[in-house]
Amino acid sequence: MQSLPSHSLSDAAKHFIDKVVLQENGRAGALLAILQRVQDSHARKFLPRETLEYISLKANVPLSRLFSFVTFYALFNLEPQGRDTISVCRGTACHTRGSSRLLEQVMMDLGLHGAEDGETEKLAMTTADGETTLRTVACFGQCALAPVVEVNHAIFGHMNERSLQRELEALEKRETRP
Ligand code: FES
Repeated sequence: MQSLPSHSLSDAAKHFIDKVVLQENGRAGALLAILQRVQDSHARKFLPRETLEYISLKANVPLSRLFSFVTFYALFNLEPQGRDTISVCRGTACHTRGSSRLLEQVMMDLGLHGAEDGETEKLAMTTADGETTLRTVACFGQCALAPVVEVNHAIFGHMNERSLQRELEALEKRETRP
């Protein structure tokens, strides 16, 4: 199992997990629901190692199985996420309509580096200040709107460099507000 960031678990967090496990255990898709609800409750939208250990104990699921589960589903995060999230679709329809240029534009704007060509198919990076997470997705299921970019869970279709720039500037303005 890969080494995960260590974060102690508060009594309130344990109490919340106890409640969620009690409510979900035994239902179809219980594990998915438990992990999703617990991740959503975290201010940085991720599942620290201690959290997975505690869920493993309470839901009586081996830690190795939990880990396989969270690494299989792209919606789970094992690292802290930024306050803002930008997702660029890299599916075929979006790719043919210029999503790689949009991705480069976001990376440049956020000062993110390191993704070589070919490594952008599955990418998740957070800025050094922890403010913004950039990720790529395989398809939003909105191919008719290609190219598609999601900003803080709002879908924007038919994006171009100019409309993307507007969204990035809106995020920056919000961040500099007192
Ligand atoms: S390929 Fe981008 S939404 Fe389907």
